[in-house]
Amino acid sequence: MKRVVIVNGPNLNLLGKREPHIYGTRSQEDLKQVVQDRAGKLGFEVSFFQSNHEGELIDFLQKEGPGSAGIVINPGALSHYSLALYDCLQALALPVVEVHLSNIHAREEFRSRSVTARAARGVITGLGFAGYELALEFLATEQK
Ligand code: DQA
Repeated sequence: MKRVVIVNGPNLNLLGKREPHIYGTRSQEDLKQVVQDRAGKLGFEVSFFQSNHEGELIDFLQKEGPGSAGIVINPGALSHYSLALYDCLQALALPVVEVHLSNIHAREEFRSRSVTARAARGVITGLGFAGYELALEFLATEQK
């Protein structure tokens, strides 16, 4: 079975508690369930990981990325400045979809720029959990 890698960056472990008016009331466990259900329907296994540490995210991507069908990543605030994460995604040479729960273009100015997005095939922003599901749908179309 093909595997997809789902990665959440800093503070996404706080989903459900963190600014619920922006990020919603469902937890990261809920997100994991939604992702696993959708991935299962699409015939994917899931490697799911969250970390508050840039280096840990990079280590995980370097280890789990190769051989996978692609990456769905919400880098959190690292999107706005992590060139190391950008380099890591570029080096993997896999289809990458960047996801943001909130619409980064409708918030503070600094959020509207993503340096990691340049390594992505596309970005889904503002659609909440559905963004992860749509990203998986895209990766499934890439398999055909
Ligand atoms: C986020 C948007 C980022 O600007 C923010 O730093 C996050 C979450 C989102 O999912 O909307 O941590 O990536």
